[in-house]
Amino acid sequence: MVFTYAPLVPLPARITATAGSLALSQVRIIGDADAVAALRTGLALRTASRLPESTDSDAVEITLSLVGQGTQDAYTLDTRGDGIRIYGHDAAGLFYGTRTLLQLLQETPDGWTVPRVLIDDAPRFAYRGVMLDLARHFFPVAEIEAYVDRASALKFNHLHLHLTDDQGWRIQIDSWPLLTERASIGDAGPCTGGFLSKDDYRHVVEYAAARHMTVVPEVDLPGHTHAVGVAYPELVEQPWLSETAVAEAAALGQDLPVHGEHFAGWAVGHSSLRIHEERTYEFVTDVLNELAEMTPGPYLHIGGDECLGTPAADFTEFIARATRIAAATGKTPVTWHEAGAVADIAAGTVGQYWGSVTPKGAHAEEAAHFVARGGALIMSASDRTYLDMKPSEDFPLGQSWAGIVPLQTAYDWDPASVVPGVPESAILGIEAPLWTETVDSYADLEALVLPRLLAHAETAWSPQAARDWDSFRARVALAG
Ligand code: ACM
Repeated sequence: MVFTYAPLVPLPARITATAGSLALSQVRIIGDADAVAALRTGLALRTASRLPESTDSDAVEITLSLVGQGTQDAYTLDTRGDGIRIYGHDAAGLFYGTRTLLQLLQETPDGWTVPRVLIDDAPRFAYRGVMLDLARHFFPVAEIEAYVDRASALKFNHLHLHLTDDQGWRIQIDSWPLLTERASIGDAGPCTGGFLSKDDYRHVVEYAAARHMTVVPEVDLPGHTHAVGVAYPELVEQPWLSETAVAEAAALGQDLPVHGEHFAGWAVGHSSLRIHEERTYEFVTDVLNELAEMTPGPYLHIGGDECLGTPAADFTEFIARATRIAAATGKTPVTWHEAGAVADIAAGTVGQYWGSVTPKGAHAEEAAHFVARGGALIMSASDRTYLDMKPSEDFPLGQSWAGIVPLQTAYDWDPASVVPGVPESAILGIEAPLWTETVDSYADLEALVLPRLLAHAETAWSPQAARDWDSFRARVALAG
């Protein structure tokens, strides 16, 4: 049965719906303390604190139990009896069960109800990510955490923070203090920039972890490093200006990059670290060590995209070394898929594919190389998952270089069918990035990510065979 009468997104793997609904005038929540606290907070928000807790005998009991049975992130939710029971395979699964319950809860003229269902749910992919570009527009801790709330409610479990780019450096690094002192000022628009102190970053990491999201930090290397040169000019080459970059800057009425000065334009591919200077590798080692030290999660993303200003042989040398420096911290390196062109990339490196759903040029081959080297793939097809692509031609925010991406286009793809020859088992999952050239506020962020974030949540979580546009569209409409 396609379950369209409650706004469940992502669609659970298995639902048995029986007739009727369970009325709740008051509840008693018992069981695993963390899940109880998470459900309490969620219920207060969902009901505007209008569904009281009580120990009265007519309060509906909600039992939250960790059972250690099933697969990672799995849960069972049963509303068919007198009470509501959620069994989590693990703490994340239990949390996801509470998120599903919050979506099932409906307000009717007779009060709060949940439909009578048995849901037996587990995700398709282990990695379900969102990415936020803090470099083109900086978001303070409270806004990053608001996005964590939004994403974790949809069962996303990774938050990739794009912490550095040509327009700004957004993370405190003690051994290279000028990075934030000089290169965090300004952004790619009218805003003033900013950076996360180590305490800020740890706060975000802990906040995300409490909602079962792992932070994946990225410092983009060796290109997208103009801001490094604002702090330490000796580490970065003079800007490399292609005819295309010059023409695009002129068309947008934007300045071209000037070595050592803040760059607010949107051009890409003009900056490169100095590949043949040993000081560059001291810098990379220090930055990655400090980042690893403050990151409990398993991944360190080191960029590797759009290195148009780095000669191919230099790119090869840099990526081979930098992925090993990242791996030496004990983390798994992650790079954008272009680094898959490097034969000797560190074994086990994870590639993030951002080509189109129909791969062009060498993109598929580059992506497949990560898998051949014992790594895996995160799929971020740009003509599907890039949340900064306009949802319609006339949408005031966003760009369109990867296409116009309305909700149905965002929904309509299978991450396992993009790169030929790569088995589904080598696909960790998907990630939906938000690049922020046109984003000046949290309101802009929400305008671009909603409702398309729901499409990506379902692609990441729900079985491909169960995904259906008409069902999804109906559920999104109910979700408001
Ligand atoms: C990218 O969009 N340059 C990864």
